Amino acid sequence: MSPQRIAIASENGRYEVVYGAGVLPGAGIRIKSLGENSGVFLLCSPRVASHWRGKLERALRSVRLRSTVVFDDREESKNTATVERICRELVRAGADRRALLVAAGGGVVGDVAGFVAASYLRGVALVHIPTTVVAQVDSAIGGKTGVNLPEGKNLVGAFYSPRLVLADPVTLSTLPDREFRSGLYEIIKYGVIADERLFVFLENSVETLANRDAKAIDFVIPRCIQAKAKVVSRDERESGLREILNFGHTFAHALETATAYRKYLHGEAVGWGMIAASRLAARMGLLTTESAARIERLVRRVGPLPALPATKASRLLEIMHSDKKTRGGQLRFVLSGKIGSAETFGPIAPKLVTKVLGHLGRET
Ligand SMILES: NC(=O)c1ccc[n+]([C@@H]2O[C@H](COP(=O)([O-])OP(=O)(O)OC[C@H]3O[C@@H](n4cnc5c(N)ncnc54)[C@H](O)[C@@H]3O)[C@@H](O)[C@H]2O)c1
Ligand SMILES: [Zn+2]
Repeated sequence: MSPQRIAIASENGRYEVVYGAGVLPGAGIRIKSLGENSGVFLLCSPRVASHWRGKLERALRSVRLRSTVVFDDREESKNTATVERICRELVRAGADRRALLVAAGGGVVGDVAGFVAASYLRGVALVHIPTTVVAQVDSAIGGKTGVNLPEGKNLVGAFYSPRLVLADPVTLSTLPDREFRSGLYEIIKYGVIADERLFVFLENSVETLANRDAKAIDFVIPRCIQAKAKVVSRDERESGLREILNFGHTFAHALETATAYRKYLHGEAVGWGMIAASRLAARMGLLTTESAARIERLVRRVGPLPALPATKASRLLEIMHSDKKTRGGQLRFVLSGKIGSAETFGPIAPKLVTKVLGHLGRET
């Protein structure tokens, strides 16, 4: 199958996401077509390097790969100190204004390397090679880059578009099972908020997908890329429409914060978040109980979610109140009124949310 090309219209121009098996070995040719650069610098994590460094370096040989910078991509190291270290390595390796950075890895590599590209010498060219499900369907698209502060996640960053995104599903083969499944929750999210056909496909074959059937992956990932492309092309800076991508995320962030980011992979927290958001919508009479049950069943079929924390509902609510998405102290949630669409609702009575949280551990 020839690669699929999905166009993203961003404020600073158009770029393409190219998806398909074999896109990675062909990276050199596609990067060449972007025009001249003074040298290519590969940025990746130790785990990505251990599996893919040879293939990546071979692919980039034809575009004058000058140096490979391997950096720690644990969430704890997603910070300004790592950005500084990478920038200094780039200076020492001779990267100038016309350098091109290639970020190969998951969301952390993409966010950190993306922020480096946005700020090094006030901006150098960037190509993403996402190698996790989350990165392929989400973080490599849309231009959000950044790092964490001790005070919170992603508090320092920039909107910075890549020149190109190359997503090769073959790279997913080395992803640990839990990481792979975690990405599937974000895939379900796209079905719920934007693509009913995708949702139905997942209802028919989520286990096949979880077992990494190549055909299923090839159907699902480009559809998610398309869904994200559509949303961010119309609303790059999260003024309104882009908010729907946060479906399940207000609950998810509360769970992640309450457990200090140790208990759940992000997608797993989103899994719980989607169950909560669907039950909330059903309670509000927005979504039929049948549709809410369909969403919940699908989420649970991905695999057992790590149990809910012992945290009191009142504490979770407090965290939600300090969420970026609350306005004027009032709770707002992205909810789906019908599978395949979503919008933001609020203010929502804290009592109602407390009820949903109180019952969340119980199956309906
Ligand atoms: N910018 C955005 O719009 C956006 C969107 C969603 C998430 N994010 C960010 O993305 C991060 C999460 O990203 P993630 O879920 O991709 O996890 P991750 O980047 O933490 O990667 C998980 C682990 O898998 C390793 N890895 C990556 N690819 C691999 C492969 N092919 N084989 C084996 N190991 C591999 C990584 O080195 C890392 O150890 C968070 O920091 C989140 O804030 C950003
Ligand atoms: Zn997410």
